[in-house]
Amino acid sequence: MKSKVVPIHVVILAAGKGTRMNSEIPKVLHKLGGKPLLEHVVNAASTLADSHLHIVVGHGASDVRVHFNDLNELNWIIQEPQLGTGHAVEQAIPAIEAITKIQDEATLLVLCGDVPLIKQQTIEALTQAASPNAVALLTLQTNNPAGLGRIIRDEQNKVTAIVEEKDASEEQRKICEINSGIMALPVNRLKHWLGKLGKNNRQGEYYLTDVIAMAVADGCEIVTRVINDEFEVQGVNDKKQLASLERHFQRIEVEKLMAAGVSVIDPARVDIRGDITCGKDVTLDINVILEGTVIIGDGVVIGPNVVIKDAVIKSNSTVLANTVIDSAEIESNCSIGPFARIRPGTRLDKEVKVGNFVEIKNSVLGQGSKANHFAYIGDADIGSGVNIGAGTIFCNYDGAHKHRSIIGNNVFIGSNSTLVAPVNINNGAFVAAGSTINSDVPENELAVGRGKQRNISGWKRPTKQ
Ligand code: UD1
Ligand code: CA
Repeated sequence: MKSKVVPIHVVILAAGKGTRMNSEIPKVLHKLGGKPLLEHVVNAASTLADSHLHIVVGHGASDVRVHFNDLNELNWIIQEPQLGTGHAVEQAIPAIEAITKIQDEATLLVLCGDVPLIKQQTIEALTQAASPNAVALLTLQTNNPAGLGRIIRDEQNKVTAIVEEKDASEEQRKICEINSGIMALPVNRLKHWLGKLGKNNRQGEYYLTDVIAMAVADGCEIVTRVINDEFEVQGVNDKKQLASLERHFQRIEVEKLMAAGVSVIDPARVDIRGDITCGKDVTLDINVILEGTVIIGDGVVIGPNVVIKDAVIKSNSTVLANTVIDSAEIESNCSIGPFARIRPGTRLDKEVKVGNFVEIKNSVLGQGSKANHFAYIGDADIGSGVNIGAGTIFCNYDGAHKHRSIIGNNVFIGSNSTLVAPVNINNGAFVAAGSTINSDVPENELAVGRGKQRNISGWKRPTKQ
């Protein structure tokens, strides 16, 4: 029989200033793959069974909280001032007790808000290795231990302590096993150890890492899980580390897409900043950026230098070079671009064609409609089979309010027309090129809204004196 469920309290440390980032933005809000560092950690932790999430914030606390406003299962704990990682965890315990009873056998899992790529399986295994008489420590073997806490082991290879680099002797600095900062501890014993922490060290901080030597002295076992993937426990302390982790993250994301069958022309030149779903036989050319939630159907071809954010693009549509699409829905067999800008609230029905230098905002284009060159289409409901000529402008704004234009099916808008909203142009109507239309056009009628042409005979061109 399985033993009874042990509750896990996950404490994510996110109060530090992040001095080395040289930034006004709290460190954990800096983005990796378009999401704040802390969001990656919260996502990994929130899938753990029987866990409660607590986040220690301090520097920029309100900005950090605002970002997670809609996640009400998070318990926010303020650490003020920030006196070190041990102090942070010490603040967390009474704050947890204030909302729930901590059971005797409960485990506390410490995660760092600045270690974003930690995997759910890793922390789950680590948590399972902890018990009322064992601390589980996640460590890394690395050739580049600079700046990190070193794991000290005795002749029997048992962990005896963690020494921070700034406090380490020259011999200790040669150790290549480092502390990931991630550990799982028995809460009740931890409380006792935290109470004994001092700050007699080079940084004058209460180090969480000091509890390891205390645990050993108390006869507690230190179990280590050693991992070899540097990136999984890579902390972000400066912009250089952030950029290097970003490249690694991108490589993983692009490889996932390729594994799912997407053809990526150059995996080093596509950026994924959100949740992307692609169908079969999708092609992504170079310098494509996909952001937010993007769903791409079978056979879609995305050309070079295209930015797509929060959009659905259905099967066999083509997005040509240098197009920007934001918050739009594109049905199958459409062709968009090159150089088109599709703005929020746009819906293109099947077989729509949008050509170069066309901007569309908050508008619907019905099946097979076309706007092939230079146009602004704002706040319009356009039927099927409509042709919007080059240079057409939908004047949707009167300086105070936005108005809609309604265009029926099979309407033809001649080039360089100005449609002053609100206006209805009914089915089959034809607008002569160069017209300014400010009153409705009945079905199948021709609207000519321009000055009549005069030809002046005998006119002489000016000549130079
Ligand atoms: C820490 C570890 C080090 C480990 C490294 C791994 C300590 C003393 N050192 O060092 O052994 O190798 O992580 O990345 O634990 N934080 C707070 N409150 C504070 C101070 C820090 O919440 O008062 C948070 C930070 O926001 C950060 C995390 O704790 O998310 C780690 O702090 P940081 O200052 O980055 O520690 P490191 O120097 O990286
Ligand atoms: Ca760090």
